[in-house]
Amino acid sequence: MSGAAAGRIEGKIALITGAASGIGLATSQIMAAQGASVILTDLNTESGARAAQTINDSGGTATFRNHDVTSENDWLSVLEFVEKMHDRLDILVNNAGVGTTGSIEETTLQQWRAIHAVNSEGPFLGCKYALDLLKKNKTGGSIINVSSVAGIIGASNLAAYCSSKASVRLLTKSVALHCARKGYGIRCNSVHPSYTDTPMVDEMVDNHRTPDRYKSALESASPMGRLGTVEDIASAILYLASDEAKFTTGSEIVVDGGLTAT
Ligand SMILES: NC(=O)c1ccc[n+]([C@@H]2O[C@H](COP(=O)([O-])OP(=O)(O)OC[C@H]3O[C@@H](n4cnc5c(N)ncnc54)[C@H](O)[C@@H]3O)[C@@H](O)[C@H]2O)c1
Repeated sequence: MSGAAAGRIEGKIALITGAASGIGLATSQIMAAQGASVILTDLNTESGARAAQTINDSGGTATFRNHDVTSENDWLSVLEFVEKMHDRLDILVNNAGVGTTGSIEETTLQQWRAIHAVNSEGPFLGCKYALDLLKKNKTGGSIINVSSVAGIIGASNLAAYCSSKASVRLLTKSVALHCARKGYGIRCNSVHPSYTDTPMVDEMVDNHRTPDRYKSALESASPMGRLGTVEDIASAILYLASDEAKFTTGSEIVVDGGLTAT
């Protein structure tokens, strides 16, 4: 973070789902470094608790809660915890997600439902139930939903994933319009990464029959010739979370090295 402005979200309370790994972990670290109190949530308690501890050890403020984003009860209990601890919420990052490959012919109904439960219903529940706490912030709250370039353009081998991420894109705009028209002062935007160097992509590469060739195909899919880094994506999320983006709502930031410009 050398050379970057500090304190861009000083004093804000941020809840980040899927924070034990990849983009969610980097977002939690960058937000804590920029002055927010972060609540990391994830299914993976061991990695999530360790991540929160590391942030605290380096001078930030972080807490971890176990949280399955597909569970309505888990959302209510995480938000109750945030309310007891802080009495408000300023930033919600709906980041938790799962990937699976498969064309329309290969994808089973069970796979379709499982991926939509996390990638689509998770953000739905988050937006729906966090609004009351976000409304307690008198200067305006921010929701950032992590979609994907696969929510904008199609990929033949990602039928369920594309559908789940496209759903997040338009959910975002609907929430943004609702909040703006109600005068809640809550913004809602989506971020659309292309292939990013995280365990999710590692798993896709490892499971491919020719991992090396597949990895270089993913790299060269972007005109900039590389995968995104978690910091590339976390920086866009940070911007949307900050007051610098106070007139930005219902919009989408594509972070893809030019992939969707072709
Ligand atoms: N890595 C990429 O190339 C890429 C590209 C575009 C979009 N995305 C999106 O970015 C987000 C983060 O992905 P990542 O690459 O960092 O993946 P990752 O696998 O590194 O991290 C995802 C995290 O989500 C958690 N998670 C999964 N299911 C959950 C559930 N039901 N409840 C709570 N937590 C759950 C996992 O335990 C994990 O810690 C996802 O929404 C993903 O779809 C990733």
